[in-house]
Amino acid sequence: MTAAAASSRSRKPAVLGVDIGGSGIKGAPVDLNTGALLADRVRIPTPSPPTPAAVLEVVRQVVDSFDTVGPIGVTFPGVVTAGVTRTAANMDKNWLNLNADEFLEQGIGRPFNVINDAQAAVMAEMRYGAGQGEEGMVLMLTFGTGIGSGLAYRGVSMPGVEFGHMLVDGKDGEWEASANAKDRNDWSWKQWAKRVNHYLDHVESMLWPDLIIVGGGVSEKSEKFLPLLTTRTRLVPAQLTNEAGIVGAAIVANQ
Ligand code: BGC
Repeated sequence: MTAAAASSRSRKPAVLGVDIGGSGIKGAPVDLNTGALLADRVRIPTPSPPTPAAVLEVVRQVVDSFDTVGPIGVTFPGVVTAGVTRTAANMDKNWLNLNADEFLEQGIGRPFNVINDAQAAVMAEMRYGAGQGEEGMVLMLTFGTGIGSGLAYRGVSMPGVEFGHMLVDGKDGEWEASANAKDRNDWSWKQWAKRVNHYLDHVESMLWPDLIIVGGGVSEKSEKFLPLLTTRTRLVPAQLTNEAGIVGAAIVANQ
């Protein structure tokens, strides 16, 4: 076999990643050799109410927008264990205890693997983004409709990390520190950063990570608020910004 044939054989084919969020459902084929999107992503607003049936139809539209084959990775904004969606803080309650892998597979006719959105994001950042080469404990926090959290240690991520629901002054942390809270209350970056600092104090009282990666839609404007954050831990913006979910979804499609 020639070297060129060997390298084309070891190259991974494009995999579709779909990111289900509280406000949009996004997808694109991903080159798993580099973590790059191979086409402009498609974004369709999340249906209201975001019932499983309504979301399935939007996922179908996203899937039909691209010419890919094989398994599809999907992120979900709630706890997912073995393909079953266990919480749905910002989604319709009919997702509770639904086998989402099977539901999507039966509806769309392709194999699906569904995982938590922030866990997907930390996997993507560890492999292709801000977490590359980090051997210690990395906490990724995604600030969006809620606050997603993903943890990795020595490059391996773990499921079931839910720091968005850590109680701060008797309320879920994400109530005042998510990007949604900033919009809902019409807060300036400074006003919002004060709440995020208060939230991060609570996180740091329980966890001593080596690095915090700040992701979610707001990470595209990190220069506006990162300098206002006063954590003990080194803090960096996500490199894949809002695409980390799509890329992480593609990583797990075959798992
Ligand atoms: C959910 C998490 C999710 C986060 C971001 C939270 O409300 O509980 O599972 O990762 O929102 O979507």
